[in-house]
Amino acid sequence: MRVLVIGSGAREHALLLALSRDPQVTGLSVAPGNAGTARLAEQHDVDITSGEAVIALARKVEADLVVIGPEVPLVLGVADAVRAAGITCFGPSKGAALIEGSKAFAKDVMAAAGVRTASSEIVDNPAHLDAALGRFGPPAGDPAWVVKDDSLAAGKGVVVTADREVARAHAAGLLEAGHPALLEAFLDGPEVSLFCVVDGATVVPLLPAQDFKRVGDGDTGPNTGGMGAYAPLPWLPDTVYREIVEQIVEPVAAEMVRRGSPFSGLLYAGLAITPAGPAVVEFNCRFGDPETQAVLALLESPLGQLLYAAGNGKLAEFGELRWHEGAAVTVVLAAENYPGRPRVGDVVTGSEAEGILHAGTTRRDDGAVVSSGGRVLSVVGTGTDLSAARANAYHIMESVRLPGSHFRTDIGQRAAEGKISV
Ligand code: GLY
Repeated sequence: MRVLVIGSGAREHALLLALSRDPQVTGLSVAPGNAGTARLAEQHDVDITSGEAVIALARKVEADLVVIGPEVPLVLGVADAVRAAGITCFGPSKGAALIEGSKAFAKDVMAAAGVRTASSEIVDNPAHLDAALGRFGPPAGDPAWVVKDDSLAAGKGVVVTADREVARAHAAGLLEAGHPALLEAFLDGPEVSLFCVVDGATVVPLLPAQDFKRVGDGDTGPNTGGMGAYAPLPWLPDTVYREIVEQIVEPVAAEMVRRGSPFSGLLYAGLAITPAGPAVVEFNCRFGDPETQAVLALLESPLGQLLYAAGNGKLAEFGELRWHEGAAVTVVLAAENYPGRPRVGDVVTGSEAEGILHAGTTRRDDGAVVSSGGRVLSVVGTGTDLSAARANAYHIMESVRLPGSHFRTDIGQRAAEGKISV
């Protein structure tokens, strides 16, 4: 089986690495890829938001399966185009990708499926903003306001703040840019990312993971696309894991079938485990980054065969997934000033070691690896338990050098110390 992966982040590097371990995968291509993925796959620079360009590439490399990593091509309908060309695709249709592309749509699906989520209100008129702010945050008894961009924002459209002026300014900025703002009640509790391979009504859950969205240790500073992750979650009872699958993901998948937009691809449930039980923070229509880097490090089942089965509506025949024992931790190395405008073009050294996945990197003509984005590398450590995996990840990180870069030092620490309970 020849597989074409679309995307350029550490998530796509992790997908390619896991695909390369599948004995039935005979060839790998990636578009556009990065300096690290070039070691595993043929690189092709095409416009990944164009269905025509992706189809032409898939034909050129004789791909049997196209795996679309990022949300933007999915929301634009690239998976529909690939499937219409007769090529198996792992990734939801444009209609199903709306579960990430519009938070209002996702809330509607959840309400119809009877799934617990934060109460919310869409504000699309600046004249209604102040009254709406009064119905959320401290006036409503919540510790903070949660203000989100209704549409795609690469993880950076969310502001959680106890300062009304900060909440107001973020919402007003969104409205000024022509984006409706979603105000949401604050969900209190440890967060879980659960990725499920879905084809219509069949749901195959992967290991649960947790990511770290704030830039600084102790969950301080602004939100990012994700600074680290670990899997599995030693503090998450199996009963709660099953409740998420059976009472949240399966009903949502069934509701999408009922609406005539069956979801086929990776359905990512982002949840908070509140005192009342698991509640959905968001759904995404693709693998999460950086959780994928940790989750796939532990996958023993053949990834290519799994995604091919889902893409062909045969997931129910695939059987139970197999996992390696132990834990995995991902730590993201970010460029100076990230999540603001990152400094790019610096030489990265020590990035070729095992356990290092590339994201914002390119190879210069002289062969040097240079930074080209905010999140530059993901370092993945595995071990017999979370403490061992953490130690391994941070040991690998010691060998990497990038001027001005930063990373969090506390990924998975509270869980490893037994400080998270539900
Ligand atoms: N882990 C956050 C995201 O992928 O959106």
